[in-house]
Amino acid sequence: MVYRIVKYGDPVLEKPCDPVTDFGAPQLEKLVADMFETMYAHKGVGLAAPQVGLSRRLTVIDCSAGEDDSQKVVLINPVITKLEGSQTGEEGCLSIPGFRENVKRAQKATVRAFDPKGHPIEITGEDLFARAIQHETDHLNGILFLTHLSLLKRDLIRRKIRKLVKAGEW
Ligand code: NI
Repeated sequence: MVYRIVKYGDPVLEKPCDPVTDFGAPQLEKLVADMFETMYAHKGVGLAAPQVGLSRRLTVIDCSAGEDDSQKVVLINPVITKLEGSQTGEEGCLSIPGFRENVKRAQKATVRAFDPKGHPIEITGEDLFARAIQHETDHLNGILFLTHLSLLKRDLIRRKIRKLVKAGEW
């Protein structure tokens, strides 16, 4: 099932999500599968549960965008434990379509999380994967990439979005 993506302006995107507790439940497996399907349908490399309207600490990442199954990652209740180095690169978000900006992130990120069965996992990613880990974990804390931009840039984008909302195009 492909979910509708929640767009910027919906409060679910800007509040911290609740921890997942139903490990091993069939509905959790189904949600994970649906989130991958939704992410691929929208050509994203990461998707967090609040982006489908669910305030839950769950995110899926696939930097191959569906080309390589071994790159599929599910992070439940993730906590970033280590950040190293820095990288600056263009970043976008399925919830803020049409806007891409340079964002400075750590070059390498280590995250502790759980898989859908409740087994603890630890993953270290670099480059785009590290960027996705940081962007998606931010989502679960109610933080959007706009937060990492200068106040000036953020206001400019907010104003443009307000116009789109008024025009019924958001
Ligand atoms: Ni995003």
